Amino acid sequence: MDAVALKTEAARDALSEVQSGMKLGIGTGSTAEAFIHLLAERVADGLSIIGVPTSERTAALCEKLGVPLSTLKETPALDLTIDGADEIDPSLGLIKGGGGALLREKIVAKASQRMIVIADESKMVDTLGRFPLPIEVNRFGLEATRLAIEEVAKSLGLSGTLSLRGGEDDPFVTDGGHLIVDASFGRIPDSRALSRSLHDIAGVVEHGLFLDVAVLAVIASSEGVKRFTP
Ligand code: 5RP
Repeated sequence: MDAVALKTEAARDALSEVQSGMKLGIGTGSTAEAFIHLLAERVADGLSIIGVPTSERTAALCEKLGVPLSTLKETPALDLTIDGADEIDPSLGLIKGGGGALLREKIVAKASQRMIVIADESKMVDTLGRFPLPIEVNRFGLEATRLAIEEVAKSLGLSGTLSLRGGEDDPFVTDGGHLIVDASFGRIPDSRALSRSLHDIAGVVEHGLFLDVAVLAVIASSEGVKRFTP
C-alpha cells in the first residue's frame, strides 16, 4: 500500500471515534484531508457534527464537501480533534506544522477534550527532530528572534540551521499573518525544555512541538492499523 492509501486507512479507523452531536476540530494536511473526505461521506449519510477547521485550506475543503463548520468563537469547547503530524514519538509527542497551520492546530487541539493523531507509519520516530521543527514567528524583529532561537538551541546543546520558509524574498505567510522558521536541530533529546525556552522568546508566536496533546495515535502500515496511547 502506498502512503496515500495508508493515510486513508488511518483516517477511516479514526472516523469510528466520531459520533453524532460532536463538536469536532478538523486538522490540516494530506492525512487530515483524507479524513475530511471520509467524514463528508458520513455527513451526507446523516452524521450530524459541527467542525472547527484548523486552517483556511481545511475550511475550503470542508465547505466544498458539505461538512458543516463553526468557529472557535461560536464553539469554543470541542469534543475531539483529529489531525495529522510530521513526527510522532512513543509518548505521543508530536512535531506539527509542515503544512504551516501549527498555531491554529494547537489552539484547536487544546480547546478539545481529546486529540487523535492519524498517520502512516513513516511518521513514527524514537526521538523527535528528524523533521525540521516549524517555529511560527512575528514579522517584527525577525532577526532578533532568529538570534534568540539560536541562543536557546545552543544552551540546550542543539545546533543546526534555521531557514525562513519560502525564502527571504517571498516568505510563506501563515493564516495568522506570521512567518515560519524551520529549525533543523536534528535529534531533540529534551523536547520539554526546548518547548519552554522557545515560548520564552517574545517573537515566537508558537512552535510545532505538541507535547501532552494527543491521547491516541492511529497509525497505518502495510500490516494494518494500530492504535497507540502515551
Ligand atoms: C500541518 C500539519 C500536518 O498535520 C502535518 O504537516 C502532516 O501533514 P501530512 O498529513 O500531509 O503528512 O501539521 O500544519
